[in-house]
Amino acid sequence: MTKPAPPASLYDRAHATAKGIQSRLNNPPKIAMILGSGLGALADELDHATRISYAEIPGFPVSKVQGHAGQLVCGRLEGIDVAVMQGRAHYYEGWSMEEVTFPVRVFSLMGINHLVVTNAAGGVNPDFSEGDLMLIRDHLNLTGENPLRGPNHESFGPRFPDMSDPYDKHLREKAHAVARSLSIDLKEGVYAGVGGPSYETPAEVQMIGRVGGDAVGMSTVPEVIVANHCSMSVAGISCITNMAAGLGNETLTHDEVKETADRVRDTFISLVHGLVAEMAPLL
Ligand code: HPA
Repeated sequence: MTKPAPPASLYDRAHATAKGIQSRLNNPPKIAMILGSGLGALADELDHATRISYAEIPGFPVSKVQGHAGQLVCGRLEGIDVAVMQGRAHYYEGWSMEEVTFPVRVFSLMGINHLVVTNAAGGVNPDFSEGDLMLIRDHLNLTGENPLRGPNHESFGPRFPDMSDPYDKHLREKAHAVARSLSIDLKEGVYAGVGGPSYETPAEVQMIGRVGGDAVGMSTVPEVIVANHCSMSVAGISCITNMAAGLGNETLTHDEVKETADRVRDTFISLVHGLVAEMAPLL
C-alpha cells in the first residue's frame, strides 16, 4: 500500500498563492495593508486597481462579518504599488490562527517588507474619545493563542522571534509627522488584542487599563506577530469607534462601530495616504 503524500507545507502553500497573485499583477506591490471594520473605503482610492476576491485566492479565509468586503485590491496609492486587504477574517469566526495570518505569509513571499494594519477598537484610555485615531505603539496579546505555535517554519523566521519593536519606531515617527502636518490629533497607545466575539465586560476593560492597554479590539495581534516573524516592518492605526464597556454611556453594537468608522473615514484616509507617501524612501 502506498502512503498518501503529506499535505503541502505552510511555506509551499503560501508560495503557490503568492505566485498566483503575482501572475495577475503588472507591478509588484511594496506595501501591504489590512483594513478593518468600516475602514475599507481606502481601497477604493487606488489607481489602476486589480481586484481579486478572497474566494478566488487559495488559502485566503473569507470573512462573513458585515462591513468586511473580502477582496484584495492591488494598485497605486501616492504612486506606490500597494496590496490592500479590504476586510479580514477574524479568529472569533472559527478560523485558526494559521488561517487568519496566512495572507501575511503570502505578502512576505511576494517580497513585501512593510505592513500597515488598521482596525476598529474600543477606547480604554479615559483621555480618548469616540472617533479618535490611535497610532499603535505596542500590543498586549490577550487572545490566549499565538499564531507561531507548532512547528517553526525557518524559511519565514526563527523559532523565537524578537518582538521588541513590533510597530516600527521609524514608521511611528513618520505617522506622527504626517498627522502634525494635516492637523490630525493622532493619539498613541497600546492595543490589547482579545479573542472576542463578545465585547468585554466592564471588569475586563478595567483590567486591560490596569495592565497598560489603551484600546481593545478583536484583530491585528495575530497578523502583527506573523509579520514580525517574517521581518516585516509594521505600522498600526486603530480607529476608536466607541469607548469600551463601562466607560461610555451606551451598550455596544457593531452598528455603532461601523457608524463611527464611517464618520472618521476622510481623516483616516488622508492619514494613511500621507503615511504611504512618507514611506517611499524606504522602498
Ligand atoms: N471591544 C472590542 N473590539 C472592538 C470594540 C470594543 O469595544 N470596538 C470595536 N472593536
